[in-house]
Amino acid sequence: MCGVFVHALEKVLQTVIGDSSTDEAREAENLLKEVDWQYLDGEIPVAISQSKDGLGRISTIVQAMKEFSHPGSKVKTFHDLNKIIETTITVASNEWKYCAQIEKQLAPDLPQVCCLADEIGQVFLNILVNAAHAIAGNNPDDKTRGTITIATRLDREHVEICIGDNGAGIPENIRERIYDPFFTTKAVGKGTGQGLAIAHNVIVEKHAGTISCVSEVDRGTVFTLRLPIESTATDSRGEEMETA
Ligand SMILES: Nc1ncnc2c1ncn2[C@@H]1O[C@H](COP(=O)(O)OP(=O)(O)OP(=O)(O)O)[C@@H](O)[C@H]1O
Ligand SMILES: [Mg+2]
Repeated sequence: MCGVFVHALEKVLQTVIGDSSTDEAREAENLLKEVDWQYLDGEIPVAISQSKDGLGRISTIVQAMKEFSHPGSKVKTFHDLNKIIETTITVASNEWKYCAQIEKQLAPDLPQVCCLADEIGQVFLNILVNAAHAIAGNNPDDKTRGTITIATRLDREHVEICIGDNGAGIPENIRERIYDPFFTTKAVGKGTGQGLAIAHNVIVEKHAGTISCVSEVDRGTVFTLRLPIESTATDSRGEEMETA
């Protein structure tokens, strides 16, 4: 469980902070020595306005992170999955915004689902980050952005969530292994191979749901999650879990 938490925290921090560089600070210091004050007179108001926009975005992300990082409940309660998806999209924005646009088709009449909200949010985050990586990795030099689609719908006693991308796709010879713990095709530091193992555990073991994937190399991938609205799932040790 601790591993799951560390992975979650690492993922959220990676997605929000992104890469930082001390070179930029040094460059700024050098620039200060050759200040053109007239130029600054015009630029400073623009910079302040952009900073305000940036602060607004930071505030949205902090709000989303607060929702994301509250101490995880072990008791299932009813939650709006569309709202969890919106929060996840905000938290992960640093991962997808440079390489993809997001198209949402969220059913407005989706019933609330009895679930462990923080763990379900973690699953959405893992699959969304994978989608962004698949798009960015497929065509690193192409400036045209890919598309990530996220759809929800009601299907009798289940809610279905589809997360698709038009990225690299998953070669057939590795498709069987993608849910294995620590299976990764990513470079060291980019992936640990835990994302889909956690997703499988949360969806199948903890919520009695299903997770499946359809993929075509160079065309893209769609992950489909199905969750029962009322869950009487057992946990990974086979014990029945509490519901509120
Ligand atoms: N949407 C996708 N498109 C293409 N390949 C994918 C996609 N999702 C998963 N994969 C493949 O499945 C592998 C396992 O995914 P998983 O999320 O478990 O680990 P990871 O992304 O490599 O690392 P981590 O999630 O721990 O950072 C990935 O390395 C990648 O090869
Ligand atoms: Mg992953």
